[in-house]
Amino acid sequence: MPFYVRMGKVPNKRHVQFPRPDGALYTEEVIGAEGFSGISSIAYHIHPPTLVHDVRKPEPYAVEFVKEDSLQHRHFKGAEVEPGGDWLSGRQYIMGNADVLLALAAPTEPMGEHEFYKNASCDELVYVHDGEGRLETPLGTVEFTQGDYIHIPRTLTHRWAFEGVSQPRLLVIEAPSEFHPPKRYRNQFGQLLEHSPYHERDYRPPTELVTRDEEGEFVVKIKKHGKLFPYVYRYHPFDVVGWDGYMYPYAISIHDFEPITGRIHQPPPVHQMFEAHNFVVCSFVPRLFDYHPQSIPAPYNHSNIDSDEVLYYAEGDFMSRKGIERGSFTLHPGGIPHGPHPGTTEASIGKKETRELAVMVDTFRPLHPTKTALKIEDEEYVFSWQPERHGHPLPDAAPLPPHAGDGATATVSSADSAR
Ligand SMILES: [Fe+2]
Repeated sequence: MPFYVRMGKVPNKRHVQFPRPDGALYTEEVIGAEGFSGISSIAYHIHPPTLVHDVRKPEPYAVEFVKEDSLQHRHFKGAEVEPGGDWLSGRQYIMGNADVLLALAAPTEPMGEHEFYKNASCDELVYVHDGEGRLETPLGTVEFTQGDYIHIPRTLTHRWAFEGVSQPRLLVIEAPSEFHPPKRYRNQFGQLLEHSPYHERDYRPPTELVTRDEEGEFVVKIKKHGKLFPYVYRYHPFDVVGWDGYMYPYAISIHDFEPITGRIHQPPPVHQMFEAHNFVVCSFVPRLFDYHPQSIPAPYNHSNIDSDEVLYYAEGDFMSRKGIERGSFTLHPGGIPHGPHPGTTEASIGKKETRELAVMVDTFRPLHPTKTALKIEDEEYVFSWQPERHGHPLPDAAPLPPHAGDGATATVSSADSAR
C-alpha cells in the first residue's frame, strides 16, 4: 500500500507496555510480508492470537489443472459458473500457474457466523462484478459495491458479508506476491505521480474498527499447501483495539481508473492498474476513442510473445470480439497472434467512444486451464477468426494460378477438418 494508516488505540511507541483497562497487557502482533523487509502492520489484540483451541482435519482444496499442455486461444463462459456455496466453497478455479490463480464465484450462502478464512500463501485481489456488502477483518470493515477491487493481504483473517438482492459474482485473483501500483506511477517515496491514472484518494482503507471480545469456538479456515486447515480459536479473531502500518485491506473502484487515450491506438500498458510478481492486472474502462482523422479504434493484431493474456469481460459492447458475453473469460497465449474478429476493424472506424468494462491479467509464464474450465469452454473459439463465420468472403478468394486446381477448396476443407 502506498500510505500509512492508523486506526483505534495504539501506544505511542512500538513494542512497549500497553495496558488493558483491567491492568493486563494487550497482545502485540506484527503482521508483515517478506520476512521483516516487506510491508507490515502492528495490531493490538485483547487476547493472544496464538490461543489455539483445536486443529481439525484439513480439507482438500487443491486446484486440478488439465494435464496436457495446449497452445490455442480459448473462451470460457464465466456466466455459466453455477451459483452455489459460500464465497469460499463456491470458488471455481478457471486457470492459473505458480504465480497466479484465477477463480470465479457466485456465492448463494453466507459462511457460518463463527467461521472465517485466511489465505496463508496468497494475497487476494477480488473484482466485484456483481454484489455489494462488507469485508469484515480484524483491521476494520471495508464496504464494497459493484466494480470494486478488494485487496486482502495474505494471512489476514476475514469474512465476506453480502447485502442487497443481486446475485454476487466475483473474479478472484490469488498471488503469492504483493499487488501494488506500477512503479512508473510512483516517485522514489512511493507517492503516486500526476500521470498516474488513479490517486491515493481513490483507495478506501477500512472505515470502521469493530472490536469483538467474545469467547467460544471460532473456526478460521487457513489455506495453505492446497488444503484448508480448520483452526479453532478460543477468542473471536476480531479482538483488535488498534493497529497501524501499511498492510491492510482496501477497496478501489474500477470506475476511479482514469483512462489514458491518444490520437492513435494506445497499447495495453496504459490500462495497467496493479502489478505483482510475473503478472499485471489492467482495467479497461469507458473512454473516448483515438482522435487521429484516420485512426482505427479497434486494436491491431498482436503477438504477445512472452506473455499469456486473459480478459474478463465485465460490461458493455466488446467491439473487437463477437460471441463474447458478460462474464466471458478469454485466454490468448503467448506465441501465437490474436486480434479483432473479421469485420470489427472496419466497423470501429468513426466510433467515438466505448462503454466497455473489462479486467485483463497478463502473465509472463504460461497459464493452464483447470478441469472446471473445460466444462464452460466454447470449443469453437479457436476458429472464430474464420471470415466465413462472420459472413465475410475469404481473404484469399483471389483467383489462384491455373496449376493450383482444386487447391483452394482443399485449403478450406483442411481448416474445417481441423476441428
Ligand atoms: Fe490482446
